[in-house]
Amino acid sequence: MAKINKINHVAIVVADLDQALTFWRDALGIELSHVEDVPSQKAAVAFLPVGDSEVELVKPTSDDSGTAKFLAERGGGMHHLCFEVDDITAKLAELKEKGVRLINETPMELPGRKMAFIHPKSTGGVLVELYEVLH
Ligand code: CO
Repeated sequence: MAKINKINHVAIVVADLDQALTFWRDALGIELSHVEDVPSQKAAVAFLPVGDSEVELVKPTSDDSGTAKFLAERGGGMHHLCFEVDDITAKLAELKEKGVRLINETPMELPGRKMAFIHPKSTGGVLVELYEVLH
């Protein structure tokens, strides 16, 4: 069975990065690594590493993205949890075999990683992302 090695990141959708950072960075004390515009996600993302994982604050930069819809409907909050796996293709095949509903049946290829989402209908309401980091 493909192995899950760690939680890569937890993504939280926010309406305003500066306002969100007053809690996550200033009050809670997690150091901000950097803020990056991520056109593929139609979002600006603030990266806050915690140990071997990260908190990602995701601010939609367009009205037609999934995170923008999430923000409009729920006012923001925890959006997804991302696990790092050693073999994403094998993991997706295992999940499919077990009847788990996948959003991406084949991984999307991005620079440095492959990724796919598991449908919240199969996870008790949590959007789960899988990453395979390419070396
Ligand atoms: Co993610």
